[in-house]
Amino acid sequence: MNPIESDSRRQFLRFLAASPLCSAFSGISLAQAAEAVGIPADAIDIFDLEATAAGIIPASHWGYLATGVNGDSTLRANRTAFAKYQLRSRRMLDVRNVDTSVEILGTKWPTPIVLAPVGSQKAFHAEGEIATARAAKARNHLQLLSTVSSTGVEEVAEARGDPIWFQLYTTGGWQAVQARLRRAEAAGCPVVVLTVDMAGGTDARHTLERAIRADSRDCSVCHEGDGIANQGKPMLEGSDYNAAQMQLTWEFLDRLKQDTTMKVFVKGIVRGDDAEKCLEHGADGIIVSNHGGRADDSGRGAIESLEEVAAAVGGRTTIFMDSGIRRGVDIFKALALGADAIMVGRPYIWGLGAFGQPGVERALEILTQELKIAMQSFGSPAIADIGPDNIVVG
Ligand code: FNR
Ligand code: LAC
Repeated sequence: MNPIESDSRRQFLRFLAASPLCSAFSGISLAQAAEAVGIPADAIDIFDLEATAAGIIPASHWGYLATGVNGDSTLRANRTAFAKYQLRSRRMLDVRNVDTSVEILGTKWPTPIVLAPVGSQKAFHAEGEIATARAAKARNHLQLLSTVSSTGVEEVAEARGDPIWFQLYTTGGWQAVQARLRRAEAAGCPVVVLTVDMAGGTDARHTLERAIRADSRDCSVCHEGDGIANQGKPMLEGSDYNAAQMQLTWEFLDRLKQDTTMKVFVKGIVRGDDAEKCLEHGADGIIVSNHGGRADDSGRGAIESLEEVAAAVGGRTTIFMDSGIRRGVDIFKALALGADAIMVGRPYIWGLGAFGQPGVERALEILTQELKIAMQSFGSPAIADIGPDNIVVG
């Protein structure tokens, strides 16, 4: 983009930022919205990408991205809980060249930053999951693909060029699940991630409902029939989008383990005793997550759940954590509390909505750079140096 284009785009974004549509449903203040940037490189932190995307993504889709449950208390807790933890610096170490690389199930990655499964990515940018895959490829990050993706696992895996992980919903019953698993296996996915935190459904997303009410566009143009977002979900092919999820119990995990050649991670664990059960039932890894505050109204920050889960697991399996990570210091805190890797959802989708592939790349670049600075600040030349001695509860 040349400077003139960038300038007029900035003006346009400022105009949008000042519009009632943006202020009412973006959940960000007008002052924040004015931080919208014209090119990815101008984003100082993740929140500049949020402000930019807020002026571009249509109101109802923004509502889908932003929403929590009921009054969004869990969403807020995911952020405020990080402030309960403080960091302790180790001094007098050579931190000129910090090494952010990690190994996950035997594969080396340049950073512990993983792209969480986020459904319906074409709702945020025309290129959807393909743009995300290309960004993940350009910067070599692990990408997880949602069952409710706008693009099928075959195409996304091809665009990524290296194996992606597949996230499983059980819509449509066991046969539909098996069909999904076979497609993921054939596309080379080494891991399936079973999401277990949606037992209460998605009916209490009030921020989303209000945003839909405020969107004057004719939703039926894209969302056929009853208005449910059932279009273009290739991983649900052959099953009814509106069909109920299967009841998830520990027996389901046993069945999944027996059926698939992929390793199985369980996503949505928030308690130590459940983490213990995951191990008993053969899970190969655990993702501590409250779905970015959009699954239930617990009011508990995911970082607090991580502390409990890591204590129960005691290093016996791989732990990822997500929900609320926005800065390098948040990543550092999660690693200090026992996570092997972290995932981000909204932050990279803000980049996607703002600029497509280059926006996702910028989001990953910002977080990586911030992680490096945190490692320097707190005296951790390598990821393995980050540990419980770095962190205290304030
Ligand atoms: C999600 N998330 C999600 N999780 C999952 O297992 N399957 C899915 O299809 C989706 N879809 C989805 C859509 C949108 C719009 C959002 C925001 C989130 C949850 C996601 O994987 C992750 O747990 C959270 O996004 C992490 O929290 P942050 O980083 O968004 O705060
Ligand atoms: C969501 C589902 C798709 O959070 O996981 O919207």
